[in-house]
Amino acid sequence: MLARPYHPGDVPFMMQGAASNAWDLVPGPERTPDAWMRAAGFSYGNLMTMLRQPGGTALVLEDAGRPVAFILLGIGPDSYTGQVYGYLGDIFVAPEYRRRGLSLLLHQEAERYFRQQGVRQGKLWIGAENQAALESAKKAGFEPEGYVLRKRYTAPST
Ligand SMILES: CC(C)(COP(=O)(O)OP(=O)(O)OC[C@H]1O[C@@H](n2cnc3c(N)ncnc32)[C@H](O)[C@@H]1OP(=O)(O)O)[C@@H](O)C(=O)NCCC(=O)NCCS
Repeated sequence: MLARPYHPGDVPFMMQGAASNAWDLVPGPERTPDAWMRAAGFSYGNLMTMLRQPGGTALVLEDAGRPVAFILLGIGPDSYTGQVYGYLGDIFVAPEYRRRGLSLLLHQEAERYFRQQGVRQGKLWIGAENQAALESAKKAGFEPEGYVLRKRYTAPST
């Protein structure tokens, strides 16, 4: 398995993975065609924005000449503390390559990249239902920093 920086030929694979990740975050009842277009559009915009930002890149794992996994990386200051941190924007492993340790390899390569850039802290955001990504991140050494909470205001309050 070859780990390398992305090149423009990887963008279609990364667009597909990023769109799939965004769609995974849309709750079942909200999965309309419009929501699909929004998720795909947003994830594409986010991918391109992160790749164009200073320090932004993606690392790709290649098998037999084709991309099979990627991790999208950015570097920026924390809004409150100003401390620079590395942001892991998207991580995606093609379904047929899962459970072979590739996410851990991507985390390892991401850490190597951030260290080279002088970055000493990494952060990522994971949907509450995504047990695979959570377990993988924990195995890579991440721990919770905070919680994003939601309450649905559907039923009348008591
Ligand atoms: C999450 C994801 C990146 C994990 O990639 P992977 O290469 O299959 O994971 P690994 O093989 O490196 O697994 C590392 C550890 O993570 C955990 N893990 C991975 N997949 C898991 C699953 N389906 N259920 C529970 N734990 C899981 C395990 O602890 C695993 O270690 P083990 O195999 O020794 O038990 C992959 O499932 C994926 O691409 N999912 C869709 C995209 C996504 O959800 N991305 C994250 C949101 S941005």
